[in-house]
Amino acid sequence: MFFLDSSDPKEIKEISGWGVIAGVTTNPLILAREAAAVDLEQRIREVIAVSTGHVSVELIAEDERAMLDEARRYHAWAPDRICVKVPFSEAGLRVTHSLARAGVATNVTCLMSFNQAYLAALAGGTYVSIFSGRIRDMGYDARTVIAQTRAQLDRESLSSRIIVGSVRHFMDANEALEAGAHIVTVPPAILRKMLHNPKTEETIREFNAAWHNRGK
Ligand code: E4P
Repeated sequence: MFFLDSSDPKEIKEISGWGVIAGVTTNPLILAREAAAVDLEQRIREVIAVSTGHVSVELIAEDERAMLDEARRYHAWAPDRICVKVPFSEAGLRVTHSLARAGVATNVTCLMSFNQAYLAALAGGTYVSIFSGRIRDMGYDARTVIAQTRAQLDRESLSSRIIVGSVRHFMDANEALEAGAHIVTVPPAILRKMLHNPKTEETIREFNAAWHNRGK
C-alpha cells in the first residue's frame, strides 16, 4: 500500500484521483515547509476533505500530559480519519498505550531500530513508522530493520502495521515493500517519478502512430 507523505491539499487531491493512495502522513517539518502561514486545523481539514483513509498528524508536545491534550484536540477534528502521530520516547510509549486503550488510532514515528519498532507495536501503535532514509544516513541497512519488525509482528500476530517513511528514491519504496513493509509513505515528487519509463512512452507513441497511419 502507498500513503502520501504530504500536507498539500492540491497535490493530495490530484494524486488521490489515481486511486493508489490509502492514507496521508504529515509531520511538523512537512507542514512548516508547505504551510508555514496556515492554521494547522484548517490545513488538516483541507487534507481530510480531499483524501481517504487515515491522516497522520504529529504531536509537538514532549510532556505526557500535554501530548495527551494535544492528541485529544487532533482526534476531535475527525475521529475516524485522524491518526495521532506519536514521536517515539518513554512518554510517547505511555501516550500510545493510553490512546490505544481509548480506541484512538496512532502512528508511532521516528523509529530507527527493530527494538523501537517492537516496543511501539507492543504499546499498541496502529502503525509503526520506520525511517528508511534516516537509517541509511547513519550507515545502517533499513531493510534489516523492516524485515525483523515484520517477522516479529507476524510471529506474535501483533496488529500494528509497518509504515516505511523517509523515502528519498523510488527504489527505497520497492526495497521497503520487498522487505515486508505493509505501507510505504511516499512524497508526491517520488510517486510521480514512478509514472515514467521511456520504453513505455515510446511503445504508446508507436501504437498510436500505427493506428493513425493505418491504410496509408
Ligand atoms: C513520514 O511519516 C515521515 O515523517 C517522513 O517520511 C520523514 O521523512 P524525512 O526523513 O525525509 O524527513
